[in-house]
Amino acid sequence: MTEQTNEDIRWANYREANGRFPHVRLAEMKETLKRANVHQGETVLEVGTGNGYLTFPLASAAGWKGKILTFDTTHKNLAAMMLRNIDALQIIPIPQSTSYLFPVPEGHADAIVTLATFHHYDERSTGTTGRMKALREFYRMLKPGGRLVIADPAKGTPTQRYFDAVDTPVHCHPRGHPHDFVAKEEMLTLCKNAGFKDAQFEVVETPWVFNDEEEAKTFIHQLHNSQCTPEESLALAKKHLNYELTAEGVKLGWSLFYLVAKK
Ligand SMILES: C[S@@+](CC[C@H](N)C(=O)[O-])C[C@H]1O[C@@H](n2cnc3c(N)ncnc32)[C@H](O)[C@@H]1O
Repeated sequence: MTEQTNEDIRWANYREANGRFPHVRLAEMKETLKRANVHQGETVLEVGTGNGYLTFPLASAAGWKGKILTFDTTHKNLAAMMLRNIDALQIIPIPQSTSYLFPVPEGHADAIVTLATFHHYDERSTGTTGRMKALREFYRMLKPGGRLVIADPAKGTPTQRYFDAVDTPVHCHPRGHPHDFVAKEEMLTLCKNAGFKDAQFEVVETPWVFNDEEEAKTFIHQLHNSQCTPEESLALAKKHLNYELTAEGVKLGWSLFYLVAKK
């Protein structure tokens, strides 16, 4: 058996947090599905599989005549997701390399959809080089008229400030969170330079919802594979994100930008 690296452990925890508490990020998922507007029979590329949080709903929308090609640089995410594909949905897992060149022919996809992954294409030191490379590939792989839907934290939002706060190996193990984010004008320019048209950018509130504070603490702590106490993980989230006790439980302010464009 191969040994688990620290990165393997990070993503195993990410998968487990999402798997144990699938209701927490429902607002993100529903908003992404609405904007992706996938129809039966379509071929959809997803980049950033994670635990399959979005993959399975996308596959249900595409149906038996459609298919989802899902890519992840963390190859163990793909294997773990496929073990959960008990309904044998039309999902094809494809290991992605960090060269961001995709083994997919030109004009293959009706839509390309990605949730909470776009910022991973760069570290602060690479600016937007990785994201630009990926966008050019997204453009190439789409059919004429094909749709691009990117959901990711926007620069200058509390969500970004929270990620900056967990950029230490203690709060996000093993490497912190060394990624920067883009704001509206920059994102629209990147899309235009890749050839996309009709690009629309909107920041949307997609709060994380928990049954109680204990659940919030456990989720946040596990999601980032934090090495501090769970109490400290929650305190950091409360410091940067709007925290609300409601009749249903706990609501944590979270927002994403939604970029929708066409080839
Ligand atoms: C925050 S997760 C999002 C996963 C899933 N879409 C979701 O919403 O739960 C980010 C994903 O990016 C992948 N990733 C990690 N490093 C990456 C890199 N250098 N380039 C591209 N993707 C990367 C991870 O394996 C992970 O699946």
